[in-house]
Amino acid sequence: MKIAVVPGDGIGVDVTAEAVKVLERVGRLRGLPIELKFYPWSADHYLKTGETVPPGGFDELSTHDAVFMGAFGDPRVPDMRHAADILLGARFRMDLYVNFRPVRCLDDRLCPLKGFAARDIDFVVFRENTEGSYVGAGGHLKKGTSDEVAVQEDVSTRKGVERILRAAFDWAKANGRKRVVMSDKSNAMRFVGDLWQRAFAEVAREYPGIEASHLYIDALCMQMIKDPRQFDVIVTNNMFGDIATDLGAALQGGLGMAASGNIHPGKTSMFEPVHGSAPKYAGTGKANPFGAILTAGLMLGHLGKTAEAEAVESAVQACVREGKATADVGGSLSTSAAGDAVCERLGLS
Ligand SMILES: NC(=O)c1ccc[n+]([C@@H]2O[C@H](COP(=O)([O-])OP(=O)(O)OC[C@H]3O[C@@H](n4cnc5c(N)ncnc54)[C@H](O)[C@@H]3O)[C@@H](O)[C@H]2O)c1
Repeated sequence: MKIAVVPGDGIGVDVTAEAVKVLERVGRLRGLPIELKFYPWSADHYLKTGETVPPGGFDELSTHDAVFMGAFGDPRVPDMRHAADILLGARFRMDLYVNFRPVRCLDDRLCPLKGFAARDIDFVVFRENTEGSYVGAGGHLKKGTSDEVAVQEDVSTRKGVERILRAAFDWAKANGRKRVVMSDKSNAMRFVGDLWQRAFAEVAREYPGIEASHLYIDALCMQMIKDPRQFDVIVTNNMFGDIATDLGAALQGGLGMAASGNIHPGKTSMFEPVHGSAPKYAGTGKANPFGAILTAGLMLGHLGKTAEAEAVESAVQACVREGKATADVGGSLSTSAAGDAVCERLGLS
């Protein structure tokens, strides 16, 4: 298994070290040959060399079975040039059209909703990852004057919409989930909304065993809080998915607990914790590594190592339950000690 690792900036570096520790531990315990290759692409590298991603960089990443990324963002690069090139570059250039976000609460103590328990929060969000408002279509007119105009286009293509919808239904079918909810804002955004609505109705007909329904994004957010039990799979566009998945992270214990995959089925895919580089925590030992470790587990599952993926999630769950965790989830361990606790747990299972 050849894995490219790009730790990035801030706590991305800290949590990636723990995810790597766990991957190496799994490799040793299960006899899996895991070969890791590290890439220095980051704010530091950009400031030293002027380079964000070298020519052919994404082609090289694509020669691996999967890519693991930490997080990007550094106050010394205020325009986020390197982050855009590396992170959005990977998503767009490697055509990673599925942003796969499991929202699973691992312990009752982490459940923020009154009257609900961890078992009530277990669904997946499929966020379209290559289109929408993130394609950078738009511009300024008369910038800096009192007549300034700014336009940002929301781009949806039939191909792009159809493939994310199909990915959501395929996953539901393969994983025994019964409901797919599509969320948009078609009452206000009529053109893209119309495309999403028609494509959803047509794709849903191909999956007769799965209940297909629709919620406007504002209603979806409200329902995620009112009763998360109603969701199996949510599919939505890039912008709404961005927002709904942070809300999802809050349902599972915060940004430090959330994992994600950027996937193109059948091609090299990229896995990253949901959180950013939290510069104020960088190197302090305060960053929760569990989101990154769960992300490593997600990557193993994607690569067909289901038992290993389950073992990683169970080990993290046990650590959370026993309070062997960082302060944000009720423990008192450092980043590195929390990673060690997961490794120790893996050895026991
Ligand atoms: N995918 C990415 O690389 C990504 C995602 C979001 C933000 N960013 C970038 O990261 C930088 C910081 O952004 P931000 O502060 O808005 O978001 P952030 O996710 O870095 O941090 C927000 C807050 O969430 C908490 N938090 C996040 N991750 C945590 C962890 N692992 N353990 C404990 N607490 C954690 C902290 O309180 C932190 O201050 C910015 O440059 C931003 O653009 C990058």
